[in-house]
Amino acid sequence: MLDIQHISKRIAFKSILEDIHFTLQTGRSLAVVGESGSGKSTLARIIMGLERPTSGRILFNGVPAPERKTAEFKSWYQQIQFVFQNTAASLDPRMTIFQSIEEPLCHLTKLRKNDRKVLVHEYAAKVGLPQPLLSSVPSHLSGGQYQRACIAKALIVRPKLLVCDEIVSNLDVIHQHTIIELLQSLQAEQQLSLLFITHDLSLVPSLCEDVLVMKDGRMVELIQSALLNSSQHPYTASLLGAVKLLGQHWHH
Ligand SMILES: Nc1ncnc2c1ncn2[C@@H]1O[C@H](COP(=O)(O)OP(=O)(O)OP(=O)(O)O)[C@@H](O)[C@H]1O
Ligand SMILES: [Mg+2]
Repeated sequence: MLDIQHISKRIAFKSILEDIHFTLQTGRSLAVVGESGSGKSTLARIIMGLERPTSGRILFNGVPAPERKTAEFKSWYQQIQFVFQNTAASLDPRMTIFQSIEEPLCHLTKLRKNDRKVLVHEYAAKVGLPQPLLSSVPSHLSGGQYQRACIAKALIVRPKLLVCDEIVSNLDVIHQHTIIELLQSLQAEQQLSLLFITHDLSLVPSLCEDVLVMKDGRMVELIQSALLNSSQHPYTASLLGAVKLLGQHWHH
């Protein structure tokens, strides 16, 4: 269980996050939504230990996140893996897809070469990456294939929590849905908790049970996605309104 306790972040006197607090139970899925600049990625980076909060703390199954460069850091973070937006930084452009997916096994486990190979093939198949692509470099993959490779790389060490930041935002609607279906099936299969960050509220109901709505670094509300439509909060309603307008636009 992920326990976010009163996280705040200030950068150069500017408040980026203010008192963010929630818990994410084992096997459950939480969406974090909000407009651009609301602090979603900053929160993701703090959870991943890539940035430090100004105050507050993060616990996973009751254990606080260890400091960087400590012995506990590696094993604590093995439980939490992340997939970020399709950026050049996600996969090393000089490595083959096979090597990229294998890499966390080399860092985080003591598995032998042959066992690693079996797992790489298993996870490539799980995420629907055709075998021949494993010998390609990232630049030869489509956006959807690239994100599948990133998901395989994150899940191969069997984390308990997967943090996804805008991982379908660059994809067309059809590929968005195949990735979301993939996450749903993997979540069920691996008892995975999911933190799914997106500015696109329309993606939420099919994937996540709960939604955290953020604005200007603050929590607007935490609500079950089934109850989104009856939210009393004007900001949530305005986000929903935007989604509906877009939907109407598409259907005409
Ligand atoms: N290192 C930094 N220095 C200064 N300001 C920062 C820094 N990192 C983030 N910010 C600011 O913090 C705010 C939140 O940024 P963040 O990237 O977390 O938003 P976001 O919700 O992920 O937006 P998007 O939907 O566009 O990805 C923004 O105003 C941003 O300019
Ligand atoms: Mg972001």
